[in-house]
Amino acid sequence: MSPKSSPSQRVLLTGGAGYIGSHVAVDLLNAGHEVVVVDNFVNSSSDSIAAIEGATGKSLTFIEADVTDRAKMVDVLTGHDISAVIHMAALKAVGESVEKPLSYYANNIGGLVTLLDAMAEAEVWHFVFSSSATVYGDAKEVPIPESAPLSATNPYGQTKLMAEQILRDTAISDDRWSILALRYFNPVGAHPSGQISEAPKGKPNNLMPSVMAAAKGDIDKVLVFGNDYDTVDGTGVRDYIHVMDLASGHVAALGSLVDRSGFDAYNLGLGSGVSVLELIAAAERASGRTIAYDIVDRRPGDVAASVADPSRALDELGWSAKLGVDQACEDTWRSQKIA
Ligand code: NAD
Ligand code: WQD
Repeated sequence: MSPKSSPSQRVLLTGGAGYIGSHVAVDLLNAGHEVVVVDNFVNSSSDSIAAIEGATGKSLTFIEADVTDRAKMVDVLTGHDISAVIHMAALKAVGESVEKPLSYYANNIGGLVTLLDAMAEAEVWHFVFSSSATVYGDAKEVPIPESAPLSATNPYGQTKLMAEQILRDTAISDDRWSILALRYFNPVGAHPSGQISEAPKGKPNNLMPSVMAAAKGDIDKVLVFGNDYDTVDGTGVRDYIHVMDLASGHVAALGSLVDRSGFDAYNLGLGSGVSVLELIAAAERASGRTIAYDIVDRRPGDVAASVADPSRALDELGWSAKLGVDQACEDTWRSQKIA
């Protein structure tokens, strides 16, 4: 089954200037949807709006605003005749969330509740939420199905877990709501044009940005957090999903909202795992450079393996990921050289 093409919609995309949001915006525009992006640039800049328009040759409406501003959100929803919302705006750094939990709850939970409340006032009932595989905690069953037990190990993860509960309760309260939570595994890669890249403010914590920084010579080595896990080579295994695949998952989810009501959650992952050392090797092939690394202690809170069972998204959304880590490393490397 392939995703059915859906009629053009006017979509509010919050966090659309961010890493994943800018790729989702590209895919929405290419699928013929009209896109209104709201972002406050807390972790992005106006460059990404220009990059989205450059990559698509299409224009979008951009509004600099904070999703916690209820009156503004009602204005945007009604003023632009929005039919569906894709809510990606959130703070996402796990370590920072431990240091500043209240900022994370205020922004991620406050923003969600405000937006849902504004949507109800504006009578907009279709909602797609950026959730995360972090809601599975340390899963016992890998590949992980959506039915696996949910837990969180840090405030960021708690915000995703709480958000899903809020969405479940909201969907029960009024059957006009049609709500999907998309649980992303480990997003990597970039638009093939190389024009859109991940440009977080502050130091990168995730593996791919660190590997690319080492390939560019910005840092001496990648620190590999442990090689004594029960995995193929002892290093952590993750399901790295190309951001273009992730983007097409949102277009598929958007198209399915009209035929359903209530709340559902879907894994967005490739369904296969790659170790830290395998990702470094793929980045070496893509960049043609040697990437030095040191094995250091495990990072607290890390799990050995996190891999999606993506079959539900295939069966019910007609979506599957297609691109592997080699493609992701090539595309990321291209975007790094241009950036
Ligand atoms: P990002 O930081 O690049 O993008 C988030 C965007 O939201 C940024 O442009 C930021 O400026 C904006 N934003 C944050 N708070 C806002 C607010 N109150 N009002 C308006 N704009 C606001 O992050 P990303 O990697 O693109 O993540 C997008 C979504 O996907 C987030 O919800 C994140 O939690 C989720 N997610 C990300 C990953 C990942 O590894 N990148 C994995 C799973 C889930
Ligand atoms: C991947 C693997 C590390 C960096 C995080 C969040 C999660 C989600 C995605 C939003 C692990 C190893 C990493 C490094 C390393 N975000 N590693 N050296 O931890 O799977 O997930 O991002 O929802 O909530 O926790 O991703 O890229 O940090 O790590 O060895 O410098 O790489 O131990 O095995 P993670 P990651």
